Amino acid sequence: MKIEKACGTVIEKNGKILVVYQQNGFWGFPKGHVEAGETEAETAVRETFEETGLWVELNEQNRFEFSYDIKDKNIHKVVVLFTARVVDDSRFSAQVEEIAEMKWLEQSEVENALTYDDWKAVWRKIRTVLKAWEINDSESFQKITHDKKFLRTKNYIQHGTVSVYEHSISVAKASLKISRKLHIKVNTESMIKVALLHDYFLYDWHDKNHPRMHGFRHANFAAKNAMRDFGLTEKEYKAIRSHMFPLNLRFPTSREALVLTLADKYCATKETIKNRKH
Ligand SMILES: [Fe+2]
Ligand SMILES: [Fe+2]
Repeated sequence: MKIEKACGTVIEKNGKILVVYQQNGFWGFPKGHVEAGETEAETAVRETFEETGLWVELNEQNRFEFSYDIKDKNIHKVVVLFTARVVDDSRFSAQVEEIAEMKWLEQSEVENALTYDDWKAVWRKIRTVLKAWEINDSESFQKITHDKKFLRTKNYIQHGTVSVYEHSISVAKASLKISRKLHIKVNTESMIKVALLHDYFLYDWHDKNHPRMHGFRHANFAAKNAMRDFGLTEKEYKAIRSHMFPLNLRFPTSREALVLTLADKYCATKETIKNRKH
């Protein structure tokens, strides 16, 4: 059996995904054959431009592969897809020889639009990765991370060389990932809000003059400051207060609170290990 490899992209723009109708009769993502001397990534970028006129930047870590047999032609087809974002769309138009139609779809519409089951299956995997990007579309994320008061967290170090600001953003991203991996249904906006504000205690805990017993007390300070500056529901307030569980013995009482304690520990461990390596 002859092996043929094609590479392409799953392009996200403002939360929507580009699907294309190939002239040979199916809905999929832009892709094409690898030419001699090309890397997979080079093929994916070139083919995307040729078929759609879009210049894209790949996230090469998000590489997905699947394969199928075209029995009547005795071909084993391997398809490699990368997630990508648009760099330049000034020449966006379908290349008519190969693409009959193009559509930007909501992520929830993509699976139904794809023609073949193996494309649907790989899309489901890709979607779990893309979901982590949704954070930029979140109203809470935009509001809080652009707020001058929150930007003060850039001045305080959390672990090693990581600022409280960076740590909080990592925890917000990790919270979404963890909730999806473990199938814990959370309110996304609320989740992002408590994750960003869980360490909003606003002092340098390495400084001699900081409040004592930081480990036990900072969750309380953060909850109070967050309530004052951004307003919290009771559930959000409690989630921030319990994020140091089991150290402070305040049990997480909501799904958001539980995910927050897990995400915080995950990020803190990662940051501490990274710091030791330097
Ligand atoms: Fe904390
Ligand atoms: Fe934290």
